Amino acid sequence: MAQTFETLMKYPAADEALVKKALETAIGIVRSDLPVFTDHFPSSNSFQGFYEATENVEWTTGFWTGVLWLAYEHTDEDAFRQAATVQVDSFFHRIADKIDVNHHDMGFLFSLSCVAAYKLTGNEKAKEAALMAADHLAGRYREKGKFLQAWGSVGEASEYRLIIDCLLNLPLLYWASEVTGDKKYACMAENHIKTAVNCILREDDSTYHTYFIDMETGEPSYGVTHQGNRNDSAWARGQAWGIYGIALSYHYLRDDSYIRLFERVTDFFLCHLPEDLIPYWDFDFDTGSAEPRDSSAAAIAVCGMLEMAKYLDRERAEKYTGAAKRILYALIRTCGNADPKQSNGLLLHGTYARDSAENTCKNRGVDECNTWGDYFYMEALTRSIADWEMYW
Ligand code: GLY
Repeated sequence: MAQTFETLMKYPAADEALVKKALETAIGIVRSDLPVFTDHFPSSNSFQGFYEATENVEWTTGFWTGVLWLAYEHTDEDAFRQAATVQVDSFFHRIADKIDVNHHDMGFLFSLSCVAAYKLTGNEKAKEAALMAADHLAGRYREKGKFLQAWGSVGEASEYRLIIDCLLNLPLLYWASEVTGDKKYACMAENHIKTAVNCILREDDSTYHTYFIDMETGEPSYGVTHQGNRNDSAWARGQAWGIYGIALSYHYLRDDSYIRLFERVTDFFLCHLPEDLIPYWDFDFDTGSAEPRDSSAAAIAVCGMLEMAKYLDRERAEKYTGAAKRILYALIRTCGNADPKQSNGLLLHGTYARDSAENTCKNRGVDECNTWGDYFYMEALTRSIADWEMYW
């Protein structure tokens, strides 16, 4: 169903009472998860509703630590702070010993765990870990093409590409420049987002998931999907990474050319939402499809809209805040887990990966919770009722 801002405004919006109740429910579940997920982390996605305990591996463990910091901010309970601090130590060892870090996802891992710890508690070890992670990410910067290589060994021909998700890794670099005074990190981040938006944004305002860069010339070469339905489709989470990623770079750079880019990617997302406002995993699918949803894409987009609304003129700020609060209402009502016996996660109906003829994925975490969905849900709830100082 094609949505317009007029149709969107007819949906109910999340009000403060609903959000506070949703936060209370979510924090209750987080509290009951603490005994298992302090020395261990939840798996990237749940299995029939339940996360398993894992070591600090993959790109997803920082989300849980971020959830703990948010729970700590809301409650002031020492148990959350202590558990998050135990995990910060784990992140220090992960980056010092280079465990499963041969990829670009240092921002996802270290902004929400260690930068958050430093901002909230002044933890110097956390700062050191986050700066090591920023250096590691900077090592993936490719001068030829001016971008951060997402996957594979640095400079590997078959992986000479960027992916839209990386926009969420850039705040770690902006932050590193702020705390060290060394502009090189922010410069790489700014070059990366310029390269990225130049090639991933299509004329119809949808986005490619990944884009190869010519190793010889540094020019954008061609786009392919990794997790979307087709090379030319709009993977819902990718579009959401675009929304929030552009808003975060705007926060640091204040370059007004990003306002129009934000509107383009966001309006595409909003106008393609199905009737119940929870996107399918790819915008190829619409109301009535039997394909699974990706609630995490909606939560990410809400955070992006609420961040960007801070910098927009009143009319546009109201438009995006209004849309965000309507999607948030739908998320709370249809995806918010209220029953710890049904799941130990917070946000139901996410999709990590879905196989298709044109992508290389196997089904994974389909119609399950995922840790980033939980994190962005908590962040979206927080942002919708408070002037929150972000961890990014
Ligand atoms: N950043 C990987 C994903 O969104 O699945």
